[in-house]
Amino acid sequence: MLADKDRVFTNLYGQFDWTLKGAQARGDWDGTKDLILKGRDWLVNEVKNSGLRGRGGAGFPTGLKWSFMPKQSDRPCYLVVNADESEPGTCKDRDIIRNDPHKLVEGCLLAGAAMGATAGYIYIRGEFYNEALNLQAAIEQAYAAGFLGKNACGSGFDFDLYLHRGAGAYICGEEMGLLESLEGKPGKPRLKPPFPAGVGLFGCPSTVNNVETLAVVPTILRRGAPWFASFGRPKNEGTKVFCISGHVNKPCNVEEAMSIPLRELIETHAGGVRGGWDNLLAVIPGGSSMPVLSKSIADTILMDFDALRDAKSGLGTAAIVVMDKSTDIIKAFARIAKFYKHESCGQCTPCREGTGWMWRMLERIAKGDADISDIDLLQTVTTQIEGHTICAFGEGAAWPVQGLIRHFRPEMEKRIAERGARPMAAE
Ligand SMILES: Cc1cc2nc3c(=O)[nH]c(=O)nc-3n(C[C@H](O)[C@H](O)[C@H](O)COP(=O)(O)O)c2cc1C
Repeated sequence: MLADKDRVFTNLYGQFDWTLKGAQARGDWDGTKDLILKGRDWLVNEVKNSGLRGRGGAGFPTGLKWSFMPKQSDRPCYLVVNADESEPGTCKDRDIIRNDPHKLVEGCLLAGAAMGATAGYIYIRGEFYNEALNLQAAIEQAYAAGFLGKNACGSGFDFDLYLHRGAGAYICGEEMGLLESLEGKPGKPRLKPPFPAGVGLFGCPSTVNNVETLAVVPTILRRGAPWFASFGRPKNEGTKVFCISGHVNKPCNVEEAMSIPLRELIETHAGGVRGGWDNLLAVIPGGSSMPVLSKSIADTILMDFDALRDAKSGLGTAAIVVMDKSTDIIKAFARIAKFYKHESCGQCTPCREGTGWMWRMLERIAKGDADISDIDLLQTVTTQIEGHTICAFGEGAAWPVQGLIRHFRPEMEKRIAERGARPMAAE
């Protein structure tokens, strides 16, 4: 179990004062000026050496992403902070924002310095009303203390930070949809390339990072890259906030070392599976977009990017949804499919039409009102969406269905066979 002294988020549960005074008492904003004065290259290299990979879902190496920002630019450069957090099962950024907002604000300043950004824009999901109040207050406290704005922290570096509230659309968490929305347009993702580091917000070089990614940066820079890299397996380093929900005795958010076994994570921090580990049916390991794992995989899987990729799933947002044997697994995935149908922006035909197909087929299969061959047809629909859309929403919608078929095909066939065997008079 991760020792308290190794936790980045010392106020994850809101037990202490989240304002500037409390944050400083816990070590935030300590020596920030000196860190900035070490210069862009040092900041980027330190984050590279820490092994930090993006915590927003894709796990792209953070230092490398920052290095794509131009060294010289005739246009302003921007940091964009993704605080949309809409992936079902995920609620880590929310706790960081409401209980430890100064970690994010300081992280924005340091990331801004590392990429030569003149301003940062935080795009926060509209439903996070109280969180937005805390974050806005933290920003104002930082300005009043001279930590933001002109000559931030007395470093000679100028950096402004703005908070923008979204209006409740999952697709606005996708980085190109987010940029469109931030510019005041409907959140319909743009094609890549060009990538944001070339043409981002308002046509200017930009980098989009997740809340948790940025909030761990000040601690990495203060304690050193080797300290952060000492947790987890190679290429999967660091500590990570996991969100554990569903059929566990004590749902929670918890910061742990990366690569911790899933079973240990659930049993140590979430009070175990309801009815005991043997009552486990399935686990979604990384938010609703990541393919489900069967119990036999969940028994031994490590919670990191590479282990979950090798198991044909993904760490995603590290939102673990536990399902015990009372779960109607087909119905559960029909419900997830309904979410994706509802949230598709409608721009790409395979996604707009395919998400509806998947939802309707799963609804029918859940009732057994289908043919066995429909399972293969459903699989074909997923592959017609995957890889055929502008953004990764298509994969996020298709993968859960593929995971269901991969691990629970016998249940689907059984449901259909049972329905077929039922006498009509009993309907
Ligand atoms: C449909 C969709 C929704 C997404 N929602 C979020 C989100 O709410 N928050 C987030 O940080 N990243 C989200 N992402 C990932 C972002 O596009 C992007 O990869 C991330 O913000 C990059 O930050 P990172 O490098 O720090 O992880 C989403 C991606 C997709 C395809």
